Amino acid sequence: MSQTAKSISKHVNFDQLRKDFPVLSQKMNGNPLVYLDNAASSQMPVQVADRLDHYHRYEHANVHRGIHTLSQRATDEYEETRKKVQHFINAKSQDEIIYTSGTTDSINLVANSFGTLYFKKGDEIILSEMEHHANIVPWQMIAQRTGAVIKVIPVDDNGDLDMEAYKKLLNSNTKMVAIVHVSNALGTVNPVKEITGLAHEQGAAVLIDGAQAVPHKTVDVQDLDCDFYTFSAHKMCGPTGFGILFGKKEYLDAMPPYRGGGDMIDKVSFEETTYNVAPFKFEAGTPPIAAGIGLGSAIDYLQNIGMDQIAEREEKLVDYAVNRLKMIDGLKMIGTPKKRASAASFVFDDIHASDMGTLLDKRGIAVRTGHHCAQPILRRFNVPATTRASLSFYNTTDDVDRLIDGIEYVKTFFE
Ligand code: ALA
Repeated sequence: MSQTAKSISKHVNFDQLRKDFPVLSQKMNGNPLVYLDNAASSQMPVQVADRLDHYHRYEHANVHRGIHTLSQRATDEYEETRKKVQHFINAKSQDEIIYTSGTTDSINLVANSFGTLYFKKGDEIILSEMEHHANIVPWQMIAQRTGAVIKVIPVDDNGDLDMEAYKKLLNSNTKMVAIVHVSNALGTVNPVKEITGLAHEQGAAVLIDGAQAVPHKTVDVQDLDCDFYTFSAHKMCGPTGFGILFGKKEYLDAMPPYRGGGDMIDKVSFEETTYNVAPFKFEAGTPPIAAGIGLGSAIDYLQNIGMDQIAEREEKLVDYAVNRLKMIDGLKMIGTPKKRASAASFVFDDIHASDMGTLLDKRGIAVRTGHHCAQPILRRFNVPATTRASLSFYNTTDDVDRLIDGIEYVKTFFE
């Protein structure tokens, strides 16, 4: 039996798992909390919270610096996460795993370091219309410095990428394709393997923003063959302030450091400084050690459930949610993509998203409203703001039903 077939056959009691998240059993504004803002940040299970607590109480010391046992233990625990991440995303080597403060930091690192090394005037960077600001602005900043030019893949009325337009944008000047795996605003799952293959035919590198993908499905960077992949711990049951940049070793070895300081050096003098090897040459200063250990614990937690089980559960939930949302009179979905993960965005002509969010909150339902840090895609759909419900494996059909009842209530409020 293949690994996938084996893991799909495993039964997971998701109702039981909810007990790992005490935050979900509280009342919010007098109503049981329905947490549907997982794309902004997911909740942390007690196993991860306990791991952080244990570290702070008994294991804290600085890493990579101390000869004493406590420091060595902290270093071992912190470095253990690198191995866990390597296996979690199937990187070839743990040296391809760089610790960052999150997806935004990971993308800034690549834009600055890769861009400084490789971009010159007239080179092209391909982004898409559905990118988060974190995968737009760093590229604009390096483009301004180097004379590179940004090209944008359009999105169709369903919220899918126009792949024919993408093929036309690619050419021998394309140096980088930076693309989101799962759109935070629309929920679209992009064909990133195909996108990567096409970019490589032109000799371009590919960065995939996986912040909204890694929490919801198995990601295999060798199978995707991407050159860089980024994600954040706090969207996958881990702590804030910590994230990952996967990079292929050949690029990481060639790329210059992004930030200078302790730990990223080999030798320092006032005449010359030489740098540590990757991944450490990209990790200046004392890191958020507890958060790194916490990510390791979050990966253990997710793998114990099984990423295939999580994907299967969430696909059913998001289908259920979208089908129920579509039946609400006057509701317009923003994004009806071929393939969706976790997030569903919608608008009403006559109810502003912030009113919707505020009134849902009064009923204990947490959603995100606004532009979701993805203004270009909202402009594409000609809306200033949407209401977004984003699901995790610990959500239930009851949560979705509460959302639907809440929306119906808000509608009557404005009648
Ligand atoms: N990027 C996060 C979101 O989509 C914060 O809400």
